[in-house]
This record gives sequence, structure tokens and C-alpha cells, in this order.
Amino acid sequence: MVLIFKSTRVSLEKSVEKSELAGNAVTFLHEEDYLEQYKHPKIDAETTIDPGLRKPSDIGKGWHFCIDPYDTGLRQKWFKYKKNPNQPQDYDPFEGSDYSIPMVWNLTKPEWFYYEGSAWYSKTLKDPRNNFDKEKCDRLILEIGGASYSCRIFIDGVFVGVHLGASTPCSLDITEYIRFSEVSLMICVNNSRTRENIPATHTDWFNYGGIHRNIFLYQVPNHFIQRTIVRLTKDQNFIEVIVKMNKKNKLPIKAYIVISKLHTNKEFKIENGEGSVIIEKVPQLWEPSNPILYKVDIKAGNDFWQDNIGFRVITAKGQQVFLNGRPRRLDGISVHEDDLMNGRITSEEDIRQRFKHARELGAIFIRLAHYPHSPMVARIADEEGLLIWSEIPVYWTLDYENPNTVKDANNQLKELIRRDINRASIIFWSLANETADTDARINFLSILANTARSEDPTRLLTAACLINQETLQISDRLVEHIDVIGVNEYFGWYDPEIQDLELFLKHYKLNKPLLISETGADAVAGHHGNIETLMTEEWQANFFENQIKILKKYYGASGPLIGITPWILYDFRSPRRQREYQNGWNRKGLIAEDKTTKKVAFQVMADFYRGIHPE
Ligand code: GCU
Repeated sequence: MVLIFKSTRVSLEKSVEKSELAGNAVTFLHEEDYLEQYKHPKIDAETTIDPGLRKPSDIGKGWHFCIDPYDTGLRQKWFKYKKNPNQPQDYDPFEGSDYSIPMVWNLTKPEWFYYEGSAWYSKTLKDPRNNFDKEKCDRLILEIGGASYSCRIFIDGVFVGVHLGASTPCSLDITEYIRFSEVSLMICVNNSRTRENIPATHTDWFNYGGIHRNIFLYQVPNHFIQRTIVRLTKDQNFIEVIVKMNKKNKLPIKAYIVISKLHTNKEFKIENGEGSVIIEKVPQLWEPSNPILYKVDIKAGNDFWQDNIGFRVITAKGQQVFLNGRPRRLDGISVHEDDLMNGRITSEEDIRQRFKHARELGAIFIRLAHYPHSPMVARIADEEGLLIWSEIPVYWTLDYENPNTVKDANNQLKELIRRDINRASIIFWSLANETADTDARINFLSILANTARSEDPTRLLTAACLINQETLQISDRLVEHIDVIGVNEYFGWYDPEIQDLELFLKHYKLNKPLLISETGADAVAGHHGNIETLMTEEWQANFFENQIKILKKYYGASGPLIGITPWILYDFRSPRRQREYQNGWNRKGLIAEDKTTKKVAFQVMADFYRGIHPE
């Protein structure tokens, strides 16, 4: 093959040979701006559907998978592939072993452990409507619970759209793309860290790649309920329900809501694609000690949506947080979504085990760090009566002045809020973690704060702020935009002077609730010694005892500290930690990465939450 390059840009079509694979495969080898054509349309918060308790068809079995380190697939348009035994081809979506989704490639083959780049999932769907009742199946919704980081969908050779964000749903109506009874579905996922991503290139957790949550199909009628909000009214006396349909209707549609436990059955109207209704009934309030949920059934036209809803009120006044009008102390713990064997993939069993350990610690409050966790987490917390801090990965240094970064963060926040808007257990949305107070960053976060307020005026906003090390005070302009001040403090670990913790708490005069959103120290489980030996369990236990001697004087009723989420329940993977005792792990867990071995510090915190603490 001879290529003729001239000083001026030549049209490559003329100077290279033809190839059947996809237009002219060789041409694409020379086009470096190949990604431009795959940046739109966006699959985002506007296309997302809230399935409620709709029954999905799980299409996670039987996928062909391969990594694609040089993005050859997008360059040469592998999704245009036509089987041709006489043609040399770089990729065949129909060959090779099958993989199941959810899957993270890092733990699938040793050589893929640190792989960052593109990878392809390919599958032929026999008439996707087969799984559903034909006459009712007007439209098909594809939902990928989480794909890290970008996710590009191709159906029968057509680029459908791209979703950005590793931990929020990629969800859209794919009906118009389903033209045949046999459908080729190809998904290109890329977990490369870039400066303009959320999070950006530097994190203290493992950058798993892949479709790490379920991939579902939902059948819905032509005109269906896309989103629903069910909550107490502003005056907290009654229930308000807001329903948004997938498209506007010219004529009003009759809708009905049934809440059987409240003996409620009320008709209302859907006009121009929206409808709302007030139910003048007073539900029993959801409480951690009595997490009562109401089955809410809504019928609009010939669509039917239902969910289990807990009704509660979360407010802040002065330095206290009130749940249902009563001040609460948020004894908590931080958790990552990470597993020794399954990486970012979680399960109902894994979540319930996490909550069981949290309960054993005496925690009723869970900080889901540093990104949106599986939708199962808040659903199970609703059932079990736990309170949740939920956050988007605005973490450390981002490209705050980049409009793409702002759009990405804003969209991930909207996707998170719209996914979990009906979850009683979630009381805080957190906007940021340890971000330096600059003009660009405060402009960026004020946009996010406005988005959160308009999407959901009922929950409190928070963030994990940094303490000013000179003044030992919070001097972060972000405090004006949030309701509850989270503070990551490591006095006695990264900051050697533990007494500075007391100075900070004494200085704290903001008229907003304060909670310690991180504090902790590393220890290798099973490594024992005296309290002077770093990395021993005894050193870590002594760290918490020293913290507690100070925290207890400012905690709960004595204020201003209303909560603590120690860092962290389990050891977790972090590639930036390669010292011999870390070996790619962050060892601040109160339990080892086996999610079984408790360290001595676990009991120190458990005693503290039960009111037993060192004098
Ligand atoms: C920071 C950061 C965490 C990190 C922790 C640590 O506070 O928010 O993500 O894991 O410190 O250093 O262990």
C-alpha cells in the first residue's frame, strides 16, 4: 500500500486504496479528529426514564467483548461491520467467548487490570419485543445502570448517542432504531481519565472500566410516564404528586393515583405532557426506627407506574439537622463502592452486608463516597431505615473553567437527583469533595447548587470542605451555597497536631450544622504492635481514641457537631498507593478488604457511638 502525502492536505480518498469494511478503512487511519462525529447526540438527564418498579428484561448475558486500545473501532467504524470471509478484518462482533454484564474488565483478565481506554460490547438481540407482550409493547427503553466512563451506543450500524459519567444511568428510548427482528447492539465504553471529566485524572480510588451495572430493556406504551415525583407538600401536611410524560398530548388524558394504605384513589389530568395532584391525606412519616413505605400506583392513559415511597421531612436550622421536626445526631460511616472480587460491581447481598456492618458500628448515616452508588443502595436504605449522603464526583482538581466540564457535572447531578428523587433515605446531596476555593470553582459550584435546588428543593445540600490550615477555620465561599457543612479532617494523621482539631471546633461559629465527613488513618489488618508503630491496628485505634477525646465535647446536643462519617468502612483499591503496606490499597478501613476482618478501631468507634468513650 503506497500513500502519497503532499505538503498540502490532499483528499485521502484519492491517494489511498479502497476497502469494503467501512467506506474506506485506510482513510480513517489518517483522520485524527475521528471523535468529533461521536460527541452528539447526548444521552443525558433529559432522555432518562425513571422506571419505578417496572419489570425489566435483563439483556446482560451473551456479549462479545474486546478491548480497543487505539480506538480503531471508532476510527474504522467497526459498527458498520458486515461479515465477509474474503476480507481481512480487525474485529468481528460475533466471534470469541461470551461475557456477562455487569462486568469490569480490570478483574476479568490480569492483563486488563490497569487498562484504560476503549472497549467494545457486542450482541445480537433476537427481536427485543419477543420478551414482551406484543400488542402493549409500543416503545423500548434501554437502560444501562452505569458504564465507566463514556458509553457510545450503536444499533444496526447507526450511532445512537453518547453518555458521559461512570455512575449515573444511561437511559433512552431506542424504539426508532429497532427496524428489524434481529438487532445488532454494540456499545463502546471508554474509561480514560481526562482533564475535563468528572472526576478528572487524579482520584484516590480505582478507575474501573466497563458496564458495571445492569443493562435492561423496558417495554412501555407509546405515551408513557417518564418521570414521577411523590413527596410531602411544602407545608408538610399532604402529599403532592408530579407526573411527566415522554411527550406532550394534544387532548387531556385522565390519570389515577392509588395509595391503598391511605385508602386513596384520586383522578387527575395530564395536559401537555404533565400532571400534578395533591392527596389530602397525612401519611405516617418514614423514620429510621420505623421505615414505613407506601405503594403508590399511578395510571396515565394506558401506562402504569408504581413505586414504594417513604414520606419524611429533612430541614436544617441553626447548627442542627431535623428529621420530621426532631433534631438528629448522624452517627455514620463513609463507604466506597468497591469490592475485592467484583470491583465496582455491587449486589443486593453486598449492600445488605455493608449496612449490617454499619449497624454493628452503631451507624444510621452512610456517606456514599465519591460518586453516585448503585440505585439499589438507596432502595435498600429506604427499607432498612438508614440515612444517606449522596454525591457526584466533583473531586479535588477539575477544569472548572471548561464549559464541557460544567455541563458534564451539571448533567451527572441532574441524573443522580432524577434517579433517586423518590428515595426517603437520601437526606443530603453533596456537591464537592476537597475542592480548593478559587473564583472558577465557586462559579462552577454555584451553578451546581442552583441545579440541585431547582431539581429538588426538599433535600439539604452539603459538601466536604477543607479547613483553612492557617486560621483553623472554614473560610470557604461554598458555605453560602450549602445547608450542612461537611469537613474532612485528618488531625493526628496528615496534620500531625491533634489539638488543632479542638481549636477548629472551638473556632467554629457558622450558624449551620457541622459534620466530620472524613477522618481516619491507615492500618494493615492483622498487623499488630504498640501505639507508636505506624500502620498497626493499635496505632489506628489510638488515632480514633485521640479524636474521640476531643469530638465528644462538641458532639450532639453540646454542638456544633451533628455527625461523623469516619473514613472508611472497608479498605479499598487505590492505584496511587503503592508503598509496601498499601500495595495499591487505601488501608483506612475499619474492616479489611475481605469485608470480614474487623480492625481494633472498629470497636473504638462502635463504643463511641454507644456512648462509651475514653476519658
Ligand atoms: C481525602 C479524600 C479521600 C481519600 C482520603 C485519604 O480526604 O477525600 O478520597 O481517600 O483523603 O487520604 O485516605
